[in-house]
Amino acid sequence: MRRGLFVTGTDTGVGKTIVCSALMQRYRDERPLGYWKPVQTGIEQDDDTAVVRDLGDCAEVEIFDEGVRLRNPVSPHLAARLSGTTIALADLESLAGRLATDRTWIVEGAGGVLVPLNDRELMTDWMARLGLPALVVARTAVGTINHTLLTLEALKQRSLKVAGVVMVGERNEENRHAIEHYGRTRVIAEMPLFRELTAAVVGDWARDELDRAGHLWR
Ligand SMILES: Nc1ncnc2c1ncn2[C@@H]1O[C@H](COP(=O)(O)OP(=O)(O)OP(=O)(O)O)[C@@H](O)[C@H]1O
Ligand SMILES: [Mg+2]
Repeated sequence: MRRGLFVTGTDTGVGKTIVCSALMQRYRDERPLGYWKPVQTGIEQDDDTAVVRDLGDCAEVEIFDEGVRLRNPVSPHLAARLSGTTIALADLESLAGRLATDRTWIVEGAGGVLVPLNDRELMTDWMARLGLPALVVARTAVGTINHTLLTLEALKQRSLKVAGVVMVGERNEENRHAIEHYGRTRVIAEMPLFRELTAAVVGDWARDELDRAGHLWR
């Protein structure tokens, strides 16, 4: 039985990697944690594993740095095709089989939930195989209600469990309430845009503000 969270989002660039870093800092004193990015595109300019290692203040044992690593900064199905390869869920599964079972895994997706991985399968197919509850990272700004509700609906329609939502950006109470009300979910934290992104800043915020009510692992 795998334990952990699948950190997904309403879009690419919404803040999943920063939220993963915060989760590492918030919960490592409660339980052994690990971070895994199974599919990384645009690896030459974007290396989420390196960011979490830094901003999450991670020890090497807390990082599983293996997975599909593709050069082009485009959707995984296309990045794979451009590299002359195909992403197979069976290969991702066998990597997942190597995750230490005594750790709770923070697994980061790529882009959003309906991103294609190959000709037939989407990110949600991989999420279903992994079987971890999804934490949805969303923006606070206008447009987020629609994007977040669409994401939650896609997850629910596939019977994927939703652990909650983290909103990133300037606080917006109305948008938060709308997401909780219409999405029948909980916003477990509102992360501001930090002026300076450092492990200390992310860690201080995580310890003070992330999941203050303790809903995440219930
Ligand atoms: N809370 C924050 N404070 C300041 N900057 C942020 C914050 N969250 C995200 N950013 C900025 O937005 C960029 C994109 O965020 P992030 O890398 O977390 O997105 P992502 O959802 O993980 O994207 P991907 O789909 O590529 O994995 C970061 O490099 C950072 O510059
Ligand atoms: Mg990321």
